[in-house]
Amino acid sequence: MRLGTPLSATATRVMLLGSGELGKEVIIALQRLGVEVIAVDRYPDAPGHQVAHRSHTINMADPAALRALVEQERPQLIVPEIEAIATEALVQIEAAGLAEVIPTARAAQLTMNREGIRRLAAEELGLPTSRYAFADNLDDLRAAAANVTGYPCIIKPVMSSSGKGQSAVDGPDNIEAAWNYALQGGRVNRGRVIVEERIDFDFEITLLTVRSLGADGEVRTDFCEPIGHVQVKGDYVESWQPQPMAAAALARAQEIAGAVTANLGGRGLFGVELFVKGDQVWFSEVSPRPHDTGMVTMASQLQSEFDLHARAILGLPVSVALRRPGASAVIYGGMDAVGIAFEGVAEALRVPESDLRLFGKPESFERRRMGVALACADDTDTARIHAKLVAAKVRPVQR
Ligand SMILES: Nc1ncnc2c1ncn2[C@@H]1O[C@H](COP(=O)(O)OP(=O)(O)O)[C@@H](O)[C@H]1O
Ligand SMILES: [Mg+2]
Repeated sequence: MRLGTPLSATATRVMLLGSGELGKEVIIALQRLGVEVIAVDRYPDAPGHQVAHRSHTINMADPAALRALVEQERPQLIVPEIEAIATEALVQIEAAGLAEVIPTARAAQLTMNREGIRRLAAEELGLPTSRYAFADNLDDLRAAAANVTGYPCIIKPVMSSSGKGQSAVDGPDNIEAAWNYALQGGRVNRGRVIVEERIDFDFEITLLTVRSLGADGEVRTDFCEPIGHVQVKGDYVESWQPQPMAAAALARAQEIAGAVTANLGGRGLFGVELFVKGDQVWFSEVSPRPHDTGMVTMASQLQSEFDLHARAILGLPVSVALRRPGASAVIYGGMDAVGIAFEGVAEALRVPESDLRLFGKPESFERRRMGVALACADDTDTARIHAKLVAAKVRPVQR
């Protein structure tokens, strides 16, 4: 493996498609290795734009715009950070040998739509998932809920993230409201939803799984310690590592994560979401990139999920070792305003073994993630209390 000098003829160039808080940390990890980084997002001054060599603002769902930018910048690697990308353009770029897509263009394509990854996991790979069905209209949805999943069930647009357009439904009376909500919350108004049986899990985890090159030049798979998390309305609010679990359940979780990531292929870090009840494990979904719940690893691991992604995509060795039990808690904007400020940061950082990321997003919304609080301790219970304390002490204010 050879790395060049940025902004020179030898530069190793990487383009991030999506430059939010997760992309920003990947960019910082790449910058530390002397990689030339091009950050792309749909709005100016995105978090990753602020730390890259160059930045561009384009509609990444527009295949022609995406292709033109890749031809202009000629990155060796393209790293998708979000799902809403013209993945058909990525497939063509990869096929033409223009750039390598991380982990693969096919992985980006399959995971941008819940239908692609669910059918792969359940129907092709035979992995355990919740019972599910797809529907394009209210009548089909009613029938699917009644006949396939039963109640309670969960209804989601096939293309959405962070819980957008998702609702839990207790009985037939609530189906219509869930359908309408899904239509509004979907990324593109295609009016297709997945309805899933609600799994009554003990806890859910993200199993960060890394495909990197071993000393023998072959791809190897490593698993981080499981990350436990709490979701509110489908959006992550708190996470911790390690999540204690039975040996049999952990082995099963690794088996499932290994099977999915082996099929998606390529190199990089994946966030495999799993539900756990006793020794039983269900596959839920997978991100072929760093995961929001994995921000805890900036405190808890020797190499954060961002370091791991950067190293793996460059063909460098990784260590998934835990450093110390840790936790993360999300800091929300709490208001709709441009150019907000944060008070209480000094008090927040007086909490023992704490740390903080403020993402630098130009505009705040009530429920927009503006930062994350981190804390380590002897055990995750203490780390969770401390991370939430840090988050509570940071107060977004209008200037
Ligand atoms: N079938 C299900 N059973 C129980 N809980 C679920 C189910 N599907 C989703 N959830 C809950 O909603 C959260 C978000 O759902 P997910 O499918 O991961 O959507 P997103 O792509 O928006 O992250 C999950 O982490 C879990 O807490
Ligand atoms: Mg999820």
